[in-house]
Amino acid sequence: MTTSAAPKADSIMARLKAGTAAQHAVAESKPLEAALIQGSIGHAQYQKYLAQRWLIHRELENATDLALKSDSRLLSLQLPTLYQTQNLETDLAQLKTDLRSIQPLPGASHLIQEIHQAKPATLMGIYYVFEGSKNGARYISKSLAKAGQTALRYLDPHGEEQRPLWLKFRADMDAIDWTATEQDEMVQAAQATFDAISSLDDAIHAG
Ligand code: HEM
Repeated sequence: MTTSAAPKADSIMARLKAGTAAQHAVAESKPLEAALIQGSIGHAQYQKYLAQRWLIHRELENATDLALKSDSRLLSLQLPTLYQTQNLETDLAQLKTDLRSIQPLPGASHLIQEIHQAKPATLMGIYYVFEGSKNGARYISKSLAKAGQTALRYLDPHGEEQRPLWLKFRADMDAIDWTATEQDEMVQAAQATFDAISSLDDAIHAG
């Protein structure tokens, strides 16, 4: 048994991390993300950010429910325990947002189309980006809490359980027998997801 915290060099999680490292650097440097981590984001922008994420997570988690029925390899991941739609609805209700008024910006529409077309493995490439983003989001939630924000269920859904849950997700993803083609498609999907999120961040920041 290995006790190493790092994924195996040729594992899908290592490939996903290496294949999106440059895009993570871009995403992290976006002005919207800077405003989030500095705790300086305005109320309206934070609300928009959560609203667009809600549209995406709703589709992602509906598609995941279907994928779980068609591909039993995904069952070990226990994905429903990681879902975020309810957390977003709690935050958006606290911010008095009318969910029916939310319209997708192009980055979100694009991603939602990709989600609808994705096969189960490809969907897990998209899922990886949002699951991984909980790592940085925990830091963001601490900055926003200091700035007085209390609608933080989405950014810090697991509290102290974040690290163990991430390590479990990583180990379970690596234990699945993905084909070489699936692995390529997962990395491509993760890259496209980062691109969509960065474009969405820019649109929210500009608006
Ligand atoms: C202020 C912005 C951000 C900061 C400070 C940040 C920070 C971090 C940190 C510290 C980790 C490493 C966790 C660890 O290995 O222990 C991480 C991982 C990750 N983040 Fe971010 N992040 C930010 C934005 C984003 C965005 C916008 C996304 C995509 C929506 C994202 C997706 C990911 C993913 C997928 C991982 C997992 C990488 C892996 O495979 O190990 N992050 N982030």
